Amino acid sequence: MADRYAVFGNPIKHSKSPRIHAAFAEQTGEAVDYRAQLVELGTGVFEQQVEQFFAEGGKGLNITVPFKQNAWRMASWRSAAAERAGAVNTLYRNELGTLCGDNTDGVGLVCDLQNNNGISLKGARVLMLGAGGAVRGVLEPFLKAGAVEIVIANRTVAKAQELVELFSDLGQLSACGFEDIEARAFDVIVNGTSASLQGELPPLPDAIVGADSACYDMMYGAQPTPFCNWASQRGAAKVIDGLGMLIEQAAESFRIWRGVKPQTPELIAQIRAELSG
Ligand code: ATR
Repeated sequence: MADRYAVFGNPIKHSKSPRIHAAFAEQTGEAVDYRAQLVELGTGVFEQQVEQFFAEGGKGLNITVPFKQNAWRMASWRSAAAERAGAVNTLYRNELGTLCGDNTDGVGLVCDLQNNNGISLKGARVLMLGAGGAVRGVLEPFLKAGAVEIVIANRTVAKAQELVELFSDLGQLSACGFEDIEARAFDVIVNGTSASLQGELPPLPDAIVGADSACYDMMYGAQPTPFCNWASQRGAAKVIDGLGMLIEQAAESFRIWRGVKPQTPELIAQIRAELSG
């Protein structure tokens, strides 16, 4: 019998995680049965379903919007990355039965940048757009990968400032509004706002993109995102969307659960082709 895994979220219908984990299971020969489960919004519903899943023998969960903070609160043990991120996207029980929480989003993004796209963060000056949960989850892995400076620009500057305070012991961080971003080229620019969901783009100065800049949107879709289009038009050296991050964070969860890290490049190419096909 295959071990049971699932992703909990709301909405969940369009989740690609079952497709991704089925491919990993096939590739590695691991006996994994991974499903998507819609969890109703309501006090205590998520917690009850997590308890039930593990009580019935489930081995591990991915947690997505809007339950990552609930999962953080439920976990009795949290990895350093999850602790700072304030969010958990991977749950499992250790051999003592303790509910453990990790966050693989940041590792996923760093992995996609460095391994799949050849963009080193060592010594990089980074501009991070947005200051919500998505950005909070990737700051520590970026600093640990060697980024020397991170400027966090956000519509609500106070939220960017909060993140600066939270992570200031790890490196050089500063906060500003979009209109106050210094006019200089950054090595790496990451769009972590959800503006693309509304087909919007934060108001950004042209000067932040240089001929060597790599621009990364955490969002992805069948069509290039507004941020990716904007970056291409300004001549960025590399323009990448978040499909690779999605697959890499899944690979890292799979590694945590099963102890083997799946290969990802082929699957990224396959799902890319399915998206545009
Ligand atoms: P997530 O978990 O995806 O990060 P979130 O915590 O709601 O979601 O954060 C969304 C981020 O996108 C925030 O930085 C938000 O800016 P504010 O903090 O000012 O709300 C940003 N955002 C959302 N829509 C935006 C838009 N149309 N233009 C610019 N920034 C936007």
